Amino acid sequence: MKKHQTVIVVDFGGQYTQLIVRRVREMGVYSEMVPWTTAEAKIRETQPNAVILSGGPRSVLEDCAPTLDVAVLKGIPTLGICYGQQLMAQMLGGKIQQGTNREYGKRRIRVAENSKSEDQSPTTDHRSLVTDHQSPITDHRSLVTGLASDQVWMSHGDDVLEVPPGFTVTASTDTCPIAGMENEAEQQYAVQFHPEVTHTPDGKTILHRFLFEKAKLKGDWTSESFIEDQVTAIRAQVGEGKVLCAVSGGVDSAVMAALLIKAIGERAMCVFVDHGLLRKNEAEQVKETFIGHFHANLKVFDAKDQFFTELKGQTDPERKRKIVGEQFVRVFEQHANELKDCDFLAQGTLYPDVIESGSPTAAKIKTHHNVGGLPDWMRMKLIEPLRWLFKDEVRAVGRKLGLPEDMVEREPFPGPGLSVRILGEVTPERVHMVQEADWIFREELKARGQNKGIWQSYAALLDVKSVGVMGDERTYQQPIVLRAVASEDAMTAHAVNIPFETLEHVANRIVNEVQGVNRVFYDLTSKPPATIELE
Ligand code: XMP
Repeated sequence: MKKHQTVIVVDFGGQYTQLIVRRVREMGVYSEMVPWTTAEAKIRETQPNAVILSGGPRSVLEDCAPTLDVAVLKGIPTLGICYGQQLMAQMLGGKIQQGTNREYGKRRIRVAENSKSEDQSPTTDHRSLVTDHQSPITDHRSLVTGLASDQVWMSHGDDVLEVPPGFTVTASTDTCPIAGMENEAEQQYAVQFHPEVTHTPDGKTILHRFLFEKAKLKGDWTSESFIEDQVTAIRAQVGEGKVLCAVSGGVDSAVMAALLIKAIGERAMCVFVDHGLLRKNEAEQVKETFIGHFHANLKVFDAKDQFFTELKGQTDPERKRKIVGEQFVRVFEQHANELKDCDFLAQGTLYPDVIESGSPTAAKIKTHHNVGGLPDWMRMKLIEPLRWLFKDEVRAVGRKLGLPEDMVEREPFPGPGLSVRILGEVTPERVHMVQEADWIFREELKARGQNKGIWQSYAALLDVKSVGVMGDERTYQQPIVLRAVASEDAMTAHAVNIPFETLEHVANRIVNEVQGVNRVFYDLTSKPPATIELE
């Protein structure tokens, strides 16, 4: 792959580290998060164009505090944020004072006199994978000079008491004498506060100045350049081989397959397993998109009966997930003849999956199912062209590749499909109930323009019955649960405040139109403590 300019964000365990990566990428600069434990080696090996040292929960004064040999940063423009500023100060000969109270929340900074300049122009325009424009580069000034807003977001215990030799103080607050410091000659910059969060209104300007004025980056990370690079990389990796692209109907696998088709045409063999657990009309839409739109080499394996037979009588959530995973493998085995000449398997793994799987502390809450555990005879090598992208970047790439908007805008959908939204036994009848209720809910949201900002919205079926009355008759039927959540990355989520009138209308329609349902609930729980899916 052609080498993009790269910014390495060294993760010291801060809660906003991933956000720093996102902000940098939003400005059209490729950025990667690297744990502090492996950062030295990575920086030495890859010589990034700039480095950002993240915040973190520890104190640099503690024994065995997370650290980095500053020698590796020599000649690389570096920005320290929060813990990053303290580490920079300590390593370069400044003094740190142990904090007695944690300072947390909004503060106002005063910009130091000697770092002021006449130029007040903000520089927040930028190119990126998601937006495509670039601002002019302006003259030298400190990162905090002439900002439109003096509000910043602080979250720290220790303070820098004395800056290292060569540094000047650029900003302070009432409670934090050194809220920013810089050594222009060495291209070392630091702020005590968090420019990456929206509570620092001019945070983007600060990051933008660091990237474009100080580190002199170009902003060469765009959808087009990404697609171009991946197509070249895929062609080089695959040669004359064939690639199995397992498509699920979700946006990630659709974009992954579209990239593969662009790179190697018919040799990208798209396989779609219809397990009968998809949303209403979804299977048809996948076929239409891939055959009608992309003229793809698509094989559809109809395995509905097989999945329903295996799921019969099963009610345990983990068992159901495992069965769905195993049956995928069975389907691949049954079609061994058609698939055995594939040399590669392409998966739609995204960057958050990569980051998460690198986290030693993540507890297993649910068995996540992609196309894991493939049979032995499928000794295929993996291709994961999206493993460096966040979801919104995947969508932007999908648009550039010409995927239809309703495919690109599709909400994430779990691999085990509706089986995780049907509590208790999964039967064709119960799947049908969920499909119909789900269709009504999402159609109504869309028709009213109330689906904007929703990460996922769906209907689920509970495994209980309650009494109702319909047309003078007693009913004893099952309830539907509606869930709509907002989220950045599915790690946390909160229920969306859908207008009561919409919910009431949807509930009425569901009870009237979906046989076997006599009540509708709306799920108000956030994640944590709940999860997004019910199982
Ligand atoms: P939870 O329910 O754990 O879900 O809050 C977080 C996100 O992951 C999706 N999800 C899955 N995606 N295979 C997938 O590909 C799975 O097994 C799976 N389980 C949950 C879920 O829809 C949400 O976006």
